[in-house]
Order: sequence, then structure tokens, then C-alpha cells
Amino acid sequence: MDKSNNKGISRRDVLKRMGLLMAGAAVMGVPTLTACSGKKKKRIILYFTATGNSLYVARQLADEGTELLSIPQLVKQGRYELEADEIGIVYPIYGHMPPNMVRQFIKKVKLTASYKFAFLTYGNRKCSAVEIWDEISRKAGHSFDYITTIIMVDNWLPNFDMAEQIKIDKHIPENLQRISADLAAQKRWHEPVTEEERQQHAGFMERSGADPEVGFLLRSEKYFTVVEEACIGCAVCAEVCPRGNYELTSQGVKMEGDCEFCFACIQNCPQKAIQFAHLPEDRLLARGEVNPNARYRNEHVSLWSIKEANRQ
Ligand SMILES: Cc1cc2nc3c(=O)[nH]c(=O)nc-3n(C[C@H](O)[C@H](O)[C@H](O)COP(=O)(O)O)c2cc1C
Ligand code: SF4
Ligand code: SF4
Repeated sequence: MDKSNNKGISRRDVLKRMGLLMAGAAVMGVPTLTACSGKKKKRIILYFTATGNSLYVARQLADEGTELLSIPQLVKQGRYELEADEIGIVYPIYGHMPPNMVRQFIKKVKLTASYKFAFLTYGNRKCSAVEIWDEISRKAGHSFDYITTIIMVDNWLPNFDMAEQIKIDKHIPENLQRISADLAAQKRWHEPVTEEERQQHAGFMERSGADPEVGFLLRSEKYFTVVEEACIGCAVCAEVCPRGNYELTSQGVKMEGDCEFCFACIQNCPQKAIQFAHLPEDRLLARGEVNPNARYRNEHVSLWSIKEANRQ
């Protein structure tokens, strides 16, 4: 008799029932099997995050067979070859564009997968972010089968009060459910972009003077200052900066270097000791920031996780 028999059920029946269960499980984010081989599907999700939204989304899309990899860590390790059945990327849009580090990474990395997906987190206005990613990734030799956006808390401090942002219901669980069902079905689709959204992006580029080939890449020492009396020397800023721009010295905290403008430092400082510099002539900071007393990190993501993701 077949040893797998359990209360009169044959091994074949067990496998058949498992197949049905797994089809249902795929929609619920449980590990899936490849159709014929019965082999577990391997999924890699790459992410970039400053305040946790993108990491939260990446985690919600992960099953137990998923490898979650931080882009700043891959860059640090010089790891530019990845292979899986499915490879995805989650990043926050900056002026509707990917962070500079994500842009540089996609140019260098070799991704081998039969299904590639991208989830772009944003807070208020996505414009043509989907088309921008499609263009940048294609130019780099990748074609993404599925690209969509997902609205989260907007962490852009110059325009938004974090205390107000967290009160807005952006229907995140419903949106996550929708995109995770799309992922389970390996949907091939790019979220449509309207002509109006393309025009809005063009208007933003004109006003901000940003370089479309670079996106946001500024100098941290020009844009941020540390209030010495408030600083407790905890080194959080040094640990959450994906570019390693901060250093604790005998004279206090020093920061310098090309900056993603991701706000990991300013948002995660427990003392709110990092502030924007006073730059009345600057196109981005002419009006300063809305509420210097409110800072944000996604409620499901610990400070430790941001450090792990970004520490250089
Ligand atoms: C430099 C910068 C630029 C941003 N630009 C946009 C934007 O153009 N449109 C938008 O809706 N949100 C924008 N945001 C908000 C973020 O995309 C959004 O809050 C994102 O979910 C943050 O992800 P994270 O928590 O993983 O860092 C911007 C944020 C920053 C820091
Ligand atoms: S995170 Fe803030 S308090 Fe901590 S060392 Fe940096 S500036 Fe100082
Ligand atoms: S200095 Fe701050 S804003 Fe710039 S890359 Fe580092 S953490 Fe991000």
C-alpha cells in the first residue's frame, strides 16, 4: 500500500488536493508552485525605502519563499546579478522619477526572470511615473511585465504636514489586495497614464529645473543642518542614510555628499534635530517646510529595519 495513504486517501488524491489549495493560496500570498514541475516558485523583491512605505509594500507582496533585498545593500556588496522565477522592484517616486540610486542600479544589474514587476509608491500625485520607469528600465535593457503605482503617506516634508498625512485614508489594504491578486495571476499590464499626467510631469520638470537623466541628486550639506543642542549623538542619521553621508565626530554630527533627498535622515532622527537649511531662493525649499515638529515612519516598519536596509 502507498505509504502516503491517510484515512484511505491515495498519494495522488493528496497531491491533487494540494494543487487546488495552492491555487487558492497564491491569491493569499502563500508560496506558489510552478505549474508543471511542482517546484516552489522563487520570487525576489528589490526595494528602496527611506520611511518604510516601500518596504511595507514589498513585505506585503512577499510569501515565505520570497527574498527581500535592499538596493542600497546590493550596491554596497556590488551584487549585480539576480535570478529567480519572478523579480520585482518597489521604490518611492521622487518627482515621479525613481531615486537616483535605483536608476543607477537598474542600469548595472542583470535580472534573469520570466516575470518582472514594479510597484511605485507615491503620496499625492503620480503623474507619468509608470511610463518613466518603463522608459528608464527599457533603456537599461529590461522589460517589466507589470508596472503599477500605490498611494501611501506622502513623506515630502516641504509640502505636507506628516501629522495630517497619517490621518488620510488612502485605502492601502484594498490597493494591496488588488496588486497582490494581479501578482499571483502574473498579470501583464502597465497602469495607463493620461495626457494630462504627462503634461503635469513636464510642468514639474520645468519648474523644478530637475535633470530628467538624473532625477533628485542634491548635496546634503547644502540642504540639511543639525541643531547641535537637540542632537543626542545617537547615530541614527548615520545608520539610515543609504549614501553614508553622516559621520559622528568629536565636533558633533557632520554630513556631506551626494544626496538622494530621500529624507531617511530628517524623518528618522528621534530628536527632530535635523532641519532643512533656510534657502529662500531655492526652487524646492522656497517655502521651507510645513511642520518641522512632525516626522514620519511607516507604522508597520521599525527603525531597525530602515537601518538594516540602508546602513553603509
Ligand atoms: C524627494 C521626494 C520627492 C517626492 N516626489 C513625489 C511625487 O512626485 N509625487 C508623489 O505623489 N509623492 C512624492 N513623494 C512622496 C513619496 O514618493 C512617498 O511618500 C513614498 O511612499 C515614500 O516611500 P518610502 O517610505 O519607502 O521612502 C516624494 C518624496 C520625496 C522624499
Ligand atoms: S539622528 Fe538626530 S539626534 Fe541622532 S545623531 Fe543624528 S542628528 Fe543627532
Ligand atoms: S543625507 Fe539624508 S536625504 Fe540625503 S541620502 Fe542621506 S538619508 Fe537620504
